[in-house]
Amino acid sequence: MRALLAHGLPVASSCHGEGVCSKCRVRILAGAENLSPESTLEHDLKLRQNVSREFRISCQTCVLNDIVIDTTYW
Ligand code: FES
Repeated sequence: MRALLAHGLPVASSCHGEGVCSKCRVRILAGAENLSPESTLEHDLKLRQNVSREFRISCQTCVLNDIVIDTTYW
């Protein structure tokens, strides 16, 4: 989420990156191996909110190398 905002890209959020709303989810199109592992908080949030496996919660994910992503609102 911080990387997206730093590059001027909009990120949906109603919890300001606290890992509660799941609105910041992004679809990973390539480079999933270049992301930090899913934390328990992210895993549980995705289960509660029915977030598909191909999505990551951007405020709970660190980018370690190149990735390709998309959202429904870009
Ligand atoms: S901004 Fe709410 S879960 Fe990421």
